[in-house]
Amino acid sequence: QPTADDIAGLIARHAGTEGPLLPILHDIQDAFDHVPQMALPLIAEALNLTVAEVHGVMSFYHDFRKAPAGRLVVKICRAEACQSMGANALSEAVLGKLGLDWGGTTRDGGVTVEPVYCLGLCACAPAAMVGEKLIGRASADRLEAAMEGAA
Ligand code: FES
Repeated sequence: QPTADDIAGLIARHAGTEGPLLPILHDIQDAFDHVPQMALPLIAEALNLTVAEVHGVMSFYHDFRKAPAGRLVVKICRAEACQSMGANALSEAVLGKLGLDWGGTTRDGGVTVEPVYCLGLCACAPAAMVGEKLIGRASADRLEAAMEGAA
């Protein structure tokens, strides 16, 4: 877990730059694989924002995690082309099977499922990613097989 000093150090790197909020959030996530709750008031204070504003930006961009991810990250595309090809049912099946909500991690820390908004595989919708592997025409079974393969 990062300390307040770690966070302050990352924030200080962006002192005086323009529009530092996103770069700061990215730096923190790169360093710690997530942006911990305790970082928000530190960022807010440094940038003269409210915690709610920082939180709002963080949730608007889907890249930022509130908690460290599991060993394997599964991303399911929720953008339009994939939605029209059954991404919702696919997501429900995968999340239901693992007992997770979006962004959740299985209790053993094995798998995190996250939404993603277009993987550039619209022609093979619905699309997903299991670890580094892109999967087109994804089905719950194919994702499950890929997860087992990656475990
Ligand atoms: Fe899903 Fe483009 S919309 S890959």
